[in-house]
Amino acid sequence: MAADVDKTLAGEPKDDHDEDRATPSSRRARSRFKQFSSLFLIAAVPFIGFCIKYYQGIQLVKRHEAGLKELGADGLFFFSSLDIDHDLYLSPEEFKPIAEKLTGAAPPPEFEEEIPHDPNGETLTLHAKMQPLLLESMTKSKDGFLGVSHSSLSGLRFWKRPAVLSSTFYARQFKVFLPPSGKSALGDTWWIIPSELNIFTGYLPNNHYHPPTPRGKEVLIHSMLSMFHPRPFVKSRFAPQGAVACIRAASDFYYDIVFRIHAEFQLNDVPDFPFWFTPGQFAGNIILSKDASHVREFHLYVPNDKSLNVDMEWLYGASESSNMEVDIGYLPQMDLRAEGPSTPSVIYDEQGNMIDSRGEGGEPIQFVFEEIVWSAEMSREEASRHLEVTMYPFKKVPYLPFNEAFSRADAEKKLVHSILLWGALDDQSCSGRTLRETVLESSPVLALLNQSFISSWSLVKELEDLRGDKKNLDLSEKARLHLEKYTFPVEMMVALPNGTVVHHINANNFLDQTSMKPEEEEGPAISFSAGFEDPSTSTYIRFLQEGLEKARPYLES
Ligand SMILES: *[C@@H]1O[C@H](CO)[C@@H](O)[C@H](O)[C@H]1NC(C)=O
Ligand SMILES: *[C@@H]1O[C@H](CO)[C@@H](O)[C@H](O)[C@H]1NC(C)=O
Repeated sequence: MAADVDKTLAGEPKDDHDEDRATPSSRRARSRFKQFSSLFLIAAVPFIGFCIKYYQGIQLVKRHEAGLKELGADGLFFFSSLDIDHDLYLSPEEFKPIAEKLTGAAPPPEFEEEIPHDPNGETLTLHAKMQPLLLESMTKSKDGFLGVSHSSLSGLRFWKRPAVLSSTFYARQFKVFLPPSGKSALGDTWWIIPSELNIFTGYLPNNHYHPPTPRGKEVLIHSMLSMFHPRPFVKSRFAPQGAVACIRAASDFYYDIVFRIHAEFQLNDVPDFPFWFTPGQFAGNIILSKDASHVREFHLYVPNDKSLNVDMEWLYGASESSNMEVDIGYLPQMDLRAEGPSTPSVIYDEQGNMIDSRGEGGEPIQFVFEEIVWSAEMSREEASRHLEVTMYPFKKVPYLPFNEAFSRADAEKKLVHSILLWGALDDQSCSGRTLRETVLESSPVLALLNQSFISSWSLVKELEDLRGDKKNLDLSEKARLHLEKYTFPVEMMVALPNGTVVHHINANNFLDQTSMKPEEEEGPAISFSAGFEDPSTSTYIRFLQEGLEKARPYLES
């Protein structure tokens, strides 16, 4: 019935019928009228669009006020955390997490069609391992978490082991790691999950508890990260988000693909305020056949070779801008590994009879796998570097460890451009974020750094350890000179090869000078037009040139 009503309303059948019988001139007139009306429509659209936007704006403000009155600031915060499209109404999809909580049952996942139904295909089992974050590695532990409410940290304190210890997947699901067409050479990189953020789009909101429904290639990564914690966000709130991959080695039948994923976990749930747990990265590799029918090896992990490897941010009130705490800490282990190569669940004997390979009751069948001979390969380090540069264009100039930077600068008669920060520059920690997303990636800065400096960045904690090292007095002195000039959170420095710091600027002062704080940015203020140089780039260049200037008398003497 509904369809009939629609047709009558639209008047289409009648119109078509009339048109058929119309004389040529009346048809022309009609089509002119159509042209005219569509012209009018085109002209009116921006105006109508503006009115709708204006009207919607007013409606939103009204709804927001009503919501605040009805629910209070905290209540409205929890409401908004479900309101993904920010229209201040909850759709059934947005209400889903609450329904699941009330009924205790999750409806069948929407993304089932993404998982290949492959009953005769090979399967592999992944095992998850983790050791909880060392609370004593957090800065806030120094005063016994003074002023940090117990509920803020509850999600962290109670997360002691993986949510799921082992899980079985079809080998074919791992086809998401295969290179797209056109990317089959060693060292080629591509985005498995592209980043949707940059400094112009800003950041995703902090007030979410439940990850959005994963789609496409996100599904497998979401299921794997869910083994650690039930609320993984496959895309981090901050850029660079997403996942990149690179071919490390290839043979006739296999690829060894390394990957790097920037994802995070939401550790708290309503009624506690959000607590974001953001490992520096998830690294790993997979050896799989080029048709994805067989997975030989799989490993995904959070690197633990730095003294701090996790960024944490939590809210302690309903205001996202003022009630935010940050800290960093050390996670000793988060690891997901295939227990062995993927195996078929059924095989056929010489007579063509089907045998269950898991050998019900009897011994499981032992498979023997041929050794893979790579026809071309690069080192794991080199492949990781390709991933790094893809994620962080600022790394087009190398950033060397502290000691190497000074010896290289000495050998090449260059200055050391050094960044000293509280959190790491090349992971997702907050302190380096603004810097690397703006100035360090811009091509004039890259060119100047490449030409006249050796670059390095260090964590405050690393240099404090170096400073205390009695066995290496030379390095310990350089670390001391650096720390002397440091103020929280990030200090950029220009140093002579012998360690004397000739010029330095604090990141906050730098941002004040350039008035380019991301929260104040307006899209149109930054133009892409040729020749336009954004103020932070020119300020940074000036900083580097002043450094060169100040170093000149020393270098000449
Ligand atoms: C750095 O300089 C070298 C040699 O001058 C050049 O080959 C390279 O492309 C430069 N790299 C960047 C990122 O500018
Ligand atoms: C480094 O060298 C310069 C110039 O030769 C000198 O003035 C300065 O004192 C030296 N610094 C250290 C820490 O030796």
